[in-house]
Amino acid sequence: MSALVELSDAHVVHRARGGGVFTRNRVYALTGADLALAPGETVGVVGESGCGKSTLAKVVVGVERPTSGTVLFRGRDLWAMPPAERRAEIGAGTGMIFQDPSTALNRRLTVHRILRDPLDVHERGTKAQRADRVRELMSLVGLPRALADALPGQLSGGQRQRVAIARALALDPDLVVADEPTSALDVSVRAQILNLLLDLKERLGLALVFVSHDIQTVRRMSDRVITMYLGRIVEETPAARVTDRARHPYTRALFSATPGLLAPVEPIPLTGPVPSATRPPSGCPFRTRCWKADEVCGRSMPDFSAASAPGHRFRCHHPVQEDRSTRDLVRRSHPGEPS
Ligand SMILES: Nc1ncnc2c1ncn2[C@@H]1O[C@H](COP(=O)(O)OP(=O)(O)OP(=O)(O)O)[C@@H](O)[C@H]1O
Ligand SMILES: [Mg+2]
Repeated sequence: MSALVELSDAHVVHRARGGGVFTRNRVYALTGADLALAPGETVGVVGESGCGKSTLAKVVVGVERPTSGTVLFRGRDLWAMPPAERRAEIGAGTGMIFQDPSTALNRRLTVHRILRDPLDVHERGTKAQRADRVRELMSLVGLPRALADALPGQLSGGQRQRVAIARALALDPDLVVADEPTSALDVSVRAQILNLLLDLKERLGLALVFVSHDIQTVRRMSDRVITMYLGRIVEETPAARVTDRARHPYTRALFSATPGLLAPVEPIPLTGPVPSATRPPSGCPFRTRCWKADEVCGRSMPDFSAASAPGHRFRCHHPVQEDRSTRDLVRRSHPGEPS
């Protein structure tokens, strides 16, 4: 199987304000990310705010250039291409759906113009074919034709997100990234938009990168779940195994905090704040909040180990036993020390 997108040792370091005039702080938004995405696959990304989910998503989709490392898109080094070629490749091959459709859409353009714009920019077909394609896109995402001349301000939040999805699909991409696509929407329309995404991905064979704070939704939408912590990918788990077979203590802690466990109790406690992305801890970045950490964890970040199932790997010196249920871990973490 050849990957659609492949990141190798991708890093994103921002220079942030603060730290004095001469020494600007560095923010380690993404560190050493290796990830391969297969055509048609849905990968979900979970982790606390600021852990680098959006950064990873933007690097995967080619809108953010990594400070170092490589991004192969259909086997070709994206950032070694001439800029015009890269823009053509990204513009047509990938689509991005953002959190807030009201700011992502140009408020002065009608729905029809918004959807025709990418076709114009990439010079797809004749004028009549573009008009056909716009109608086709609207029906694909379930927008009534009468809305073609509406402005974004005249639409509901759910309709606006449908426009944004249609626009992302305009050039028939192989890969779509949806970063918190429903968090700005009313609860009542979230499920509709999620179902639309699932349906489109099946029908169009899209690869999808799905980012959300709602980890149960991520699990349900995805084939594979990526856990990030402080800029690093710490685990990749087949979605069906993530609740009870994840090996990284952080993934278990995240999924312990959610419903679905038979006896809802307090989740596995993560003590202390998330460390600063400006000064990540040495070794494993999770060690300052991990109940299993010892001095080995401060010395080095372990490489990936393979779990027993294909497509499941984790980076941890002291992984949770595979057959240990999360419920059992939760029970042991209250009130005594979990092991
Ligand atoms: N342009 C930037 N300049 C400086 N720091 C940045 C910039 N963009 C992101 N960061 C920092 O990089 C880190 C990762 O940010 P990112 O937006 O990828 O996190 P996230 O997991 O998507 O967070 P959230 O869940 O809140 O959306 C954070 O510490 C963030 O503050
Ligand atoms: Mg984000």
